[in-house]
Amino acid sequence: MDKLSEFAKRYAESGVSRFHMPGHKGVTLHGLEAVDLTEIKGADFLFEPDGVIADGERLTADAYGSAATCWSAEGTSLSIKAAVCMVRQYLGRDITVASPRNCHRAFLNACTLLGIDPVWIYPADKRSLLCECAVTPDDVRKTLLNGGVDAIYITSPDYLGGMADIRGIAKVCREFGALLIVDNAHGAYLKFVGNEHPLGCGADIVCDSAHKTLPVYTGGGYLHISKSAPKELVQLAKPAMAMFGSTSPSYLIMQSLGMCAEMLTGELPQKLRDCCERTAKVKALMKSLGIPDLSAEPMKITVGASKAGYDGGELAELMRENKMECEYSDPDAVVLMLSPYNTKTDFERLERFFMKLEKRIPLHNADCTELFGVRPEKVMSLRSAMLSPCVNIPVDESEGRICARTAMSCQPSVAAVMAGERISAEILKILKRYSIFSIDVI
Ligand SMILES: Cc1ncc(COP(=O)(O)O)c(C=O)c1O
Repeated sequence: MDKLSEFAKRYAESGVSRFHMPGHKGVTLHGLEAVDLTEIKGADFLFEPDGVIADGERLTADAYGSAATCWSAEGTSLSIKAAVCMVRQYLGRDITVASPRNCHRAFLNACTLLGIDPVWIYPADKRSLLCECAVTPDDVRKTLLNGGVDAIYITSPDYLGGMADIRGIAKVCREFGALLIVDNAHGAYLKFVGNEHPLGCGADIVCDSAHKTLPVYTGGGYLHISKSAPKELVQLAKPAMAMFGSTSPSYLIMQSLGMCAEMLTGELPQKLRDCCERTAKVKALMKSLGIPDLSAEPMKITVGASKAGYDGGELAELMRENKMECEYSDPDAVVLMLSPYNTKTDFERLERFFMKLEKRIPLHNADCTELFGVRPEKVMSLRSAMLSPCVNIPVDESEGRICARTAMSCQPSVAAVMAGERISAEILKILKRYSIFSIDVI
């Protein structure tokens, strides 16, 4: 057991009268109160750790081979804000960050709070997936050649399992002296199943949602600083996390991060590899049945629903009827996230479902290439728009208005319109296609 969990367990068994937060005083009401603590003596402080939390973070950093890893009890959402802030502080002046438009709203919030107006990278290759922004090293090079960009921000893997060429992008960033931040929320496990974790591919700062793919409570995440990144970033990490984080981080989440760190030095990496192998078998079965899998990730399956003749929502409902709940569905895709904690039954149920799935001719859904084709007119900065008063109106009435809060059908997908951009007739159509029927406008 990790040191933080050991401390919490000992404390729960000590019979000490709790004259401290939280208000439940360790009484079992929901289930885990006994070990749900706060920053008492011995429990360490997340934002200034020198005890059991520092030990757990060091263990995590060793498992990932990072220069330093900070735990987050508020997901990758917190790590992303801290990462952007660290670049701003490291350079000590206003900065420009460039990103494809499939970024999570935490990045938009970071830019708003830090007064950064992002530059959007439009991929030359117009793919057809909602969450994918298939930027290549060449796309990044073109952006950097325009000058004035201090950092590149890439989301990889994306929600649908698309993966960017981080190695190639990192090389271009180094050539131009730009820092590389990667939102690797979906890829915390990648470190243990191959060579595709962004830390090993040359990224400077990497944000992982441990909870998405590892056995960690919802909200557990990491902020990693690479050994090849400027050394000063390590010192900036904790204060940056503290700037945006709650002063009451969940000790339950941190204990699960601690336990996971221990497990990563034990059998968990092998279990992750086994899970990828098992997932590969499902992917092979799908291929033999002619059911498309759109995911490049080894532990995620993205069923190409419309290509298989189904609306994604309908397919998700059919799965529900067969006792399976997906992570996400839209008209074109159904996302399934797997982990070593899926049982044999789960895998067999999924395979039976695919084997019985009625064969249909592909649906002619309009693809999302239009998302990459539109270049909305920018009317004001992201920050000005995000901080403006706004009204929520039906999308049908929004043509010509300025978007006040970026509208995405899921987090994060490619935004048809960002805050500060004008809603055109074309954008209006895209919003409705992705079931966005009302929108905040200035
Ligand atoms: C690509 C991506 N980045 C960031 C986040 C935010 O992560 P978290 O929920 O851990 O804060 C998500 C959440 O779904 C995500 O899909």
